[in-house]
Amino acid sequence: MNTVIPALSDFLDLQYVTAEQFWGLLRLARELKDERQRLGQNAPILAGKALALIFQKPSLRTRVSFEMGMVQLGGHAFYISPQEVGLGTRESVADVARVLSGYCDGIMARVFDHNHVLQLAQSATVPVINGLSDFSHPCQALADLFTVWEQAGRLQGLTLAYVGDGSNNVATSLIMAASKVGMKVRVIAPAGYLPDPALVAESGILVTSDLEGVAGVDVLYTDVWTSMGQEAEREARLRVFPPYQINRELVARTGNPDLLVMHCLPAHRGEEITDAVADGPNSVLFPQAHNRMHAQKALLAHLIANIPLK
Ligand code: CP
Ligand code: NVA
Repeated sequence: MNTVIPALSDFLDLQYVTAEQFWGLLRLARELKDERQRLGQNAPILAGKALALIFQKPSLRTRVSFEMGMVQLGGHAFYISPQEVGLGTRESVADVARVLSGYCDGIMARVFDHNHVLQLAQSATVPVINGLSDFSHPCQALADLFTVWEQAGRLQGLTLAYVGDGSNNVATSLIMAASKVGMKVRVIAPAGYLPDPALVAESGILVTSDLEGVAGVDVLYTDVWTSMGQEAEREARLRVFPPYQINRELVARTGNPDLLVMHCLPAHRGEEITDAVADGPNSVLFPQAHNRMHAQKALLAHLIANIPLK
């Protein structure tokens, strides 16, 4: 008997997404990517629909992948710069949500304060997508696991080591996503930059500062040491993080010739990852970046065109 997977009304964070919903999104992403590869185009399921893209921080991938995802599904997206929207300053977050709900069919927001994305969802009558906050980056984690699934053919039972700032938004969402699909996660980070203890407890991940933790892993993942909004801490962080660089030696310590090296990008080459590894045989950095669009098309198809999750 086929059970119906409950529909999502927003995509705010992975704690609100069940494992079956997450798998449903991965399968839908697969279908849409296959359809485009097979036919050269997707069915225009979002014809006449528009997505607002609110940005309080810079972006390359998130902006362009959402815009092109909408275009490829027959819809339209428009960018709203930090100066224009003044989220919570020029206008209340709730009023921004109410106004945009009358013009468009979905809102994607990249914000500093995670509460702003939650407040947008509370007042909007259209779906809201978290395009990165100081707390989390769920769209990235969806695309990341889509990439691992595509590259390795499975997710369950694989081990992923996240090396670097284990307390940041990308690490937080990756931990939530990977534990949802039965992957084992090791976070290898310096003291003071470990994931939230509550998240560690509920996800059952291994946390260590010892780089020996990379031995035998299937995926090695890193992100910048200084995230957007933390620029004042850059010097202090540069003193702590260099031992946690992903370089050839660290890749060799995994002992896995089929290792996947991942980074959400943008990369600070020469800091958290060397050129030799970013451009090396184990790197999937660019398929990973390209999959942002394919994974997000699944979100748009589900949230805006009401395509069910299967
Ligand atoms: N990975 C990611 O979100 O990239 P952008 O900041 O360029 O959107
Ligand atoms: N942790 C990084 C991710 C960028 C996509 C940041 O927040 O700047």
